[in-house]
Amino acid sequence: MSVTIKPREKFNHHTRDLRPTILNMPKIDLHRHLEGSLRLTTLAEIAHEHGVDLPSMSPEELRPLVQVVADDTPNFHNFLAKFKLLRRFYSSREAVERIAYEAVADAAHDNIKYLELRFNPVALALNQGFNFEDVADWVIEATEEAQRDHEIQVRLIVQIGRHEPQYARQLAEIAVDRQDNGIVGLDLAGDEINFPVTKFVDVFQWARKKGLHVTIHAAEAGPAVNIKEAIDKLGAERIGHGIRAREDIAIMDLLNRKQIPLEICPTSNLQTGMIPKLAQHPIYAFYQLGIPVTVNTDDPSISNTTLTDEFLMASGGAGVPFKDLCKMIIYAAQAAFLPETEKSALVEWFQVKLKKYVSEPH
Ligand code: HPA
Ligand code: ZN
Repeated sequence: MSVTIKPREKFNHHTRDLRPTILNMPKIDLHRHLEGSLRLTTLAEIAHEHGVDLPSMSPEELRPLVQVVADDTPNFHNFLAKFKLLRRFYSSREAVERIAYEAVADAAHDNIKYLELRFNPVALALNQGFNFEDVADWVIEATEEAQRDHEIQVRLIVQIGRHEPQYARQLAEIAVDRQDNGIVGLDLAGDEINFPVTKFVDVFQWARKKGLHVTIHAAEAGPAVNIKEAIDKLGAERIGHGIRAREDIAIMDLLNRKQIPLEICPTSNLQTGMIPKLAQHPIYAFYQLGIPVTVNTDDPSISNTTLTDEFLMASGGAGVPFKDLCKMIIYAAQAAFLPETEKSALVEWFQVKLKKYVSEPH
């Protein structure tokens, strides 16, 4: 089966009317990967400037290599494969700083007012043999500069790849040491099918004790019970995706009892083949059960999407009423990896800003 994801064309009349409203609304993205946020035009320019060894150079030739396109079979491993080629583009300090700056600028243009951007220093460093510490500092500096130039608040999450446990400790130390510079959390991502959490337990427990927040990609491609494992063994406070919780009532009950927020990314779930059709997406069912669900992008450039598009997907295809979309933004504010006083201020700010959207008919 081939899934074409072209949100702007696919939405019905009802959702098309909502686009300007949702674009204008202040939003929060808690689940966005820097390595999945590279503009195609920037990739092409980097390829030219630095002579990246690639089969093709123009944005349109690059597209199928770095983006999910209509011909791609929806499949988890095909999706993850896009990140491998992207590792070749982090060719210089300037390239890393540019992509980090642009990722924040693009979010700001979509009216995201609070962004938690996650990045994997190994992905950014390994091809050129950079220091992991250095690339982390470049990302920090570039995102600080982008925040000065745009109306957006950004916090960073360091991401560890499941297939690279040998770097876990060093990455956690980098994150712990930079808590005063905007790094607030640790994430485990990548291939959930073939790589268990066993080798990461000690590192995540240590990082939690040192004050970092934890979010874990779980029950995206793996079984629902991976959520329980992420909470119990790794100290997860939020879950990336968690969509396969729908297969297990006990896990849904656990998420509800503990009020663990789910970072839902609708387009990504279609492209990984984990949800066959948007109408079957469990986002609204989870919400109705009382689980705090949030709407996010995952990888805007790989998926050719924006957060506005993802809200339209949740609304049009997955059937979430408009007022509940607003509630999901409040859930996101409440799930932010911020100190309590800053978080309360964020929640209040969004409550005030969203009031007029909820009171007007949509
Ligand atoms: N799943 C696992 N790893 C990832 C993803 C994802 O959706 N996006 C980027 N890295
Ligand atoms: Zn992700």
